[in-house]
Amino acid sequence: MRIIHLSDLHLTTDEKHRNNQNAWRLAEHIISKYATAPGETVVVATGDLTDNALEDERRALIALLALLRMHFIVLCCPGNHDYACRGIDFTPESVPLFRKVVRMDAPPIVWQSEHEPITFIGLDSADPQDNVWVARGIIGKQQLAGLNRLLDLHKKRGRVVVVYLHHHPIVHKVGCALKDNIALMNRMKGRVAACLFGHNHESGAYIDQFDGLPLLLASGMSTEPDQNNNLSYRVILTHGGRVEQGVYTETIRGT
Ligand SMILES: [Fe+2]
Repeated sequence: MRIIHLSDLHLTTDEKHRNNQNAWRLAEHIISKYATAPGETVVVATGDLTDNALEDERRALIALLALLRMHFIVLCCPGNHDYACRGIDFTPESVPLFRKVVRMDAPPIVWQSEHEPITFIGLDSADPQDNVWVARGIIGKQQLAGLNRLLDLHKKRGRVVVVYLHHHPIVHKVGCALKDNIALMNRMKGRVAACLFGHNHESGAYIDQFDGLPLLLASGMSTEPDQNNNLSYRVILTHGGRVEQGVYTETIRGT
């Protein structure tokens, strides 16, 4: 299996906007490269998929996901921008609307591969009450309890677990980590093979840096090109139910 990690697409209402155009570039590249490749491909998109929690942005996301879902399993979770205008001003109606788009009605949600003993658990860390600009996010006691039960269950079944969420579970930038990041890290310790997240728009791979957490992977903003208009995304390989630590970055050359 290969896991393709995208994050922070920030789709806008303008189809010609750089973010929207680059989201389609990403999708087309991933399809051309992996749709007919051997093995299973799972695309994980870790939140802030829309920019301002607007209906037309969700519509753009629905079209993009429909294309990707024709070829791959696509797992998504919300970010603060998906529930709030500019990630700041919370709009209550956006919660059920966005959760419907990303098929996350009652987080944590579970997807299990039939090809390898790997289970994905998606968390909703977007915090409707968090109106400060840093948008720290929270998992909350209910989801943490749910995660705990799921980790026990899937361990008993001999499955390896990958967790994905929007916010950083580690204190990377002051004020930006989850409010309950320590509780989350403690739940995951020794029980999770990899954790994928976004939010800070800064790519990072933390390999064996945290006790009992072998692989913590931060995606940058996937729709943000470098100075040469190149885009990039991370690929994580699994083998026989084992998540490989040799992750690599795929680059889409600018035109
Ligand atoms: Fe973002």
